[in-house]
Amino acid sequence: MSVSEKADVLLGLQWGDEGKGKIVDVLTPGYNVIARFQGGPNAGHTLEFDGIKHVLHIIPSGIFHPEKINVIGNGVVIDPVIFEKEIIKLRARNVIPENNLLISKKAHLILPTHRLMDAALEAAKGKAKIGSTLKGIGPAYTDKVARNGLRIGDIAQGNFTDSYTKLRNNHLDLVEKYYKPCFGFNIDEFLVDGISFRDYEKLWLKSIDTLRKFTFVDSEILINEYLRSHKTILAEGAQGSLLDVDFGTYPFVTSSNTVCAGVCTGLGIAPSRVGNVYGIFKAYCTRVGNGPFPTELFDETGEMLRKTGNEFGSTTGRPRRCGWLDLPALKYSIMINGVTELIMMKTDVLSDLDTIKICTAYKYQGNNIDYIPYTYDNDSVEPVYTELAGWKKDLTTVTSTDEFPTELNSYIRFIEEYTGVPITFISVGPDRLQTIKR
Ligand code: GDP
Ligand code: IMO
Ligand code: MG
Repeated sequence: MSVSEKADVLLGLQWGDEGKGKIVDVLTPGYNVIARFQGGPNAGHTLEFDGIKHVLHIIPSGIFHPEKINVIGNGVVIDPVIFEKEIIKLRARNVIPENNLLISKKAHLILPTHRLMDAALEAAKGKAKIGSTLKGIGPAYTDKVARNGLRIGDIAQGNFTDSYTKLRNNHLDLVEKYYKPCFGFNIDEFLVDGISFRDYEKLWLKSIDTLRKFTFVDSEILINEYLRSHKTILAEGAQGSLLDVDFGTYPFVTSSNTVCAGVCTGLGIAPSRVGNVYGIFKAYCTRVGNGPFPTELFDETGEMLRKTGNEFGSTTGRPRRCGWLDLPALKYSIMINGVTELIMMKTDVLSDLDTIKICTAYKYQGNNIDYIPYTYDNDSVEPVYTELAGWKKDLTTVTSTDEFPTELNSYIRFIEEYTGVPITFISVGPDRLQTIKR
């Protein structure tokens, strides 16, 4: 943790689902403030403790600690319906989020028509579809950049209903005039989370009233006041660096800056105020949705990783694609984010393997390279592997590094030497307690 006037950052280095929620929850006792800086309900962050499992989508993963302030930053996009569902689930766990959750006035709203457009855009892409979570993320960020969006602060304005109706009608016009004739997209047949678009819209308007009960803040001012008064801040990333709109596997990415720079724009934290950068990665790789994945496994080892690692999306339930750890990709993410500490997740999942492969380079146009080239698809890069011995020991009950098998220490050292960054935590199970500090 940084000592003064700097915010630490925790973010995913792969294609998301690295275990960010679990580690934010583990690190929360060491911070005063937990702040989400980008993404929206496309995220699913899982926390497990005291026999309960909880998935958060928009709300920061420090929410189970009532004495900690949780901030949804300006870089986040919010769907009020999903937000309300999250609040109800938290109340059922005796959490009262009104007490310690603050929402940036500048965070943008996801409208029901954004979800409609997300589905229409994906349908229009046909086979080239992104595999979006269909939560309206792309269209909401598009409206933000096009300067059409509605923000949380607008809810408190007298003309909110008019502004909403105007934007919503513009969207519907576009869908009617463009998507319907071109792609046969029919609003009346479209279901949002299992209900008709019209019903979802009614629910959305009702959920705006739930949002009104929360405290809307000028989060960039507040965050900088916290920094000045030496309150410790942990910025929580969503998705992963390889899904970043600029540096990820474009166009198979999300629509926000998931990398460390997103902390500056998504919370109003100056670059000189960024402290430690915790980079989280799985001991192997997963990806949900389409796009390149050079080390993907289509055999029984891939199947074992999915089964043992329970690799099914926390937001959509889709099976995650699984493969070996990809060090050139990891090194790229470390570079873009300025990672100072690595955290290795799901180490227990590899326990049954006799040998473990790690990708150390790509064969690309006849040469071995150790970076992500511009043309990055499964046809143009072929992984070059090093094979290490497996440890063949259940790690889920291990509580200290003294109990680590030699082969695990070799695996850790190999990654540290390749990346030049220390691995400071090893996660050996989904529970809060299954986390070992090195
Ligand atoms: P996030 O989006 O980065 O927060 O990650 P997700 O919650 O989407 O996915 C991580 C999944 O792995 C969740 O189901 C976690 O409960 C689980 N998990 C986290 N760490 C570990 C670990 O070390 N071992 C195992 N077996 N599961 C883990
Ligand atoms: P967390 O925070 C894994 C993926 C989708 C799709 C692409 C674009 O839980 O790690 P979008 O809905 O943003 O239009 O989808 O990005 N994706 C994620 N994959 N974890 C996530 O979040 C993701 N959020 C989006 O599957 O391929
Ligand atoms: Mg997730």
